[in-house]
Amino acid sequence: MFIDTHAHYDDEQFNEDRDALLLALPQKGVGAVINCGQDAETSARCVALAEQYDFVYATVGIHPHEAKKYCEAEIEKIKALAANKKVVAIGETGLDYHYDFSPRDIQKENFRANIRLASELGLPVVVHDREAHQDTFDILSEEGVPAGKAVYHCFSGSAEYARMIAKKGWYFSVGGSVTFKNASKLREAVAAIPDELLMLETDCPYMAPVPLRGTRNNSSNIIHTAGEIAAIRGSDFESICELTNRNAEKFFGIFAQKK
Ligand code: NI
Repeated sequence: MFIDTHAHYDDEQFNEDRDALLLALPQKGVGAVINCGQDAETSARCVALAEQYDFVYATVGIHPHEAKKYCEAEIEKIKALAANKKVVAIGETGLDYHYDFSPRDIQKENFRANIRLASELGLPVVVHDREAHQDTFDILSEEGVPAGKAVYHCFSGSAEYARMIAKKGWYFSVGGSVTFKNASKLREAVAAIPDELLMLETDCPYMAPVPLRGTRNNSSNIIHTAGEIAAIRGSDFESICELTNRNAEKFFGIFAQKK
């Protein structure tokens, strides 16, 4: 059994077969799914999915791509959604300097507002950091995010960056990109992550691991990512699943369903 700590089943790529796919996941070893919102509208869909399926949980927040929607009213909507008991974190939020879909000063302001909401509600924050390592780390530090209250989703930094983050007690979730051919730097970084801070994710429908790269991803494909991580860390598949399940249950305050 394993836990997918970052998915987007509200994505339109699942419109044709969302329910069939989700219903089949527990039989495929998926104990829990954290489905992550990107603005008030998608966050509301995440909460609805979490209410529909026992093993699905939601995060609510404003993604850097959507940061131009950031305003007091949007944050108020997120806060109202966060009152639902299936909401386990704020996010995903952060900085994306690869696409720069929103101006950087607005991305930063949005990121800080999401962090402050998380801290007000006592929830952890799901962080998206793409080519924005220094600013992401600085903002999390300046906002005083405590140990155990942030996770770098789809972690993509170096081993040195992993050690800086680990020192803060923040978590990592590692996705399918660790299986990609050109990911030798990431594999080095994954080897440097302490046992107690490691979690697994798909980021589905994106980021399908090798040998399924380029196809529509789903949580059952995590077996390929877990297998690669086990190889990198000189561990075995079962131990990686057990370890990352324990970490995810602690981080998000959930209990995965054992089948
Ligand atoms: Ni995502």
